[in-house]
Amino acid sequence: MVRPQAAHGLLGRYCLLPLNMAETITTEAFLRKCRGLGSPVETHPFRAAARVRSTRGRYTCAFAGTRRNRTRGARRIRLSDQDLPMNAPLRASPYPATPPVHPDEVSNLPREEALRRRYGPEAALPPMPASPIVDTLLRHRSVRAFSDQFLPDGTLEMLVAAGQSAASSSNVQAWSVIAVRDPARKVRLSVLAGNQEHIRRCPLLLLWVADLARLDRIAASRDIEPHGTRYLEMLLVGVIDAALAAQNAVLAAESIGLGTVYIGAMRNEPEQVAAEVGLPDDAMIAFGLCVGFEDPSAPTADIKPRLPQRAVLHHEQYSAQSEPADVSAYDQTIAGFQASQGMRAADWSLQTARRVHELRGRERLSEALRALGLGMR
Ligand SMILES: Cc1cc2nc3c(=O)[nH]c(=O)nc-3n(C[C@H](O)[C@H](O)[C@H](O)COP(=O)(O)O)c2cc1C
Repeated sequence: MVRPQAAHGLLGRYCLLPLNMAETITTEAFLRKCRGLGSPVETHPFRAAARVRSTRGRYTCAFAGTRRNRTRGARRIRLSDQDLPMNAPLRASPYPATPPVHPDEVSNLPREEALRRRYGPEAALPPMPASPIVDTLLRHRSVRAFSDQFLPDGTLEMLVAAGQSAASSSNVQAWSVIAVRDPARKVRLSVLAGNQEHIRRCPLLLLWVADLARLDRIAASRDIEPHGTRYLEMLLVGVIDAALAAQNAVLAAESIGLGTVYIGAMRNEPEQVAAEVGLPDDAMIAFGLCVGFEDPSAPTADIKPRLPQRAVLHHEQYSAQSEPADVSAYDQTIAGFQASQGMRAADWSLQTARRVHELRGRERLSEALRALGLGMR
């Protein structure tokens, strides 16, 4: 059943058919497809939007929102309960945004307060060694509202130097990064990544590439057959290397007062994203990263609590014994956080369970990777 609170104060439930759709379909056909595919339909709690995505990503990018957010020329269709797929309960967006905190408040928090926000007021942690780097890490929060302010000269090079200072498996450095600044390209990429507005707004979008293509070229230059790049192992190396580099860049960015948000939705349409940035075979965009100064006039997200340490830290041997209690405590903590941010309370463990229930279009990733030349034996 579609639950009535799913719309929770939204202006209505809408689907937008974007202009860039591969084909034109009637409203009836669109809705039939939604229903027929059992596609997830989700509300976006902060943009007064309902998004409809087909499992194959064909009819993604359907969203309504503030006038500013609307895709120009898109057709808006009001949905009634009968229109929504009956077996696909509405869910909150996985991308929370815009609770009311001023950026300066978070960026100057002392360690104790940052820890309190990270683990909730009940958490008891021992005194820890002092470290300004850890203080910066503890204050991390994803930023999704960017100002028009330019990045200081040398910022990109600094982020890449930070990224390249990360460890790399056997030092093969199986990653690259593509800096996207062209507004038109950012718009196209944002459409491919679920129409996320921050992709358009950020001054710099970094696309982190698991780059086995360079390894292929190096092997070829030494007349050696790169058999290894056909294997899942090497793809993992590329993705891990890219993630380590990106996270170093995030820390570097945050250390100079910039905000960032990762964009996993770059994997929604891997082939189209690859074509947009001219990727060679044997390379994939693992994820994107928006970088920019936070918009001080926009309400922003506070530090988001994490699971209690006991749920993720195991001593000597893995144990899930305390997990039910820890997860339930975390559900409470997150509910408190959401309430404090003026967000609709969402049940974290239920949301998480639903996230692993189905992949919303990304179940075809291995097929897409094969199309990109990544064999994954
Ligand atoms: C690999 C990865 C992909 C993500 N993809 C997106 C995304 O596409 N859009 C978005 O708004 N946030 C995205 N996020 C941000 C997460 O939603 C966010 O990190 C998480 O909710 C925790 O919040 P925090 O970063 O503010 O602590 C992504 C994060 C990671 C690590």
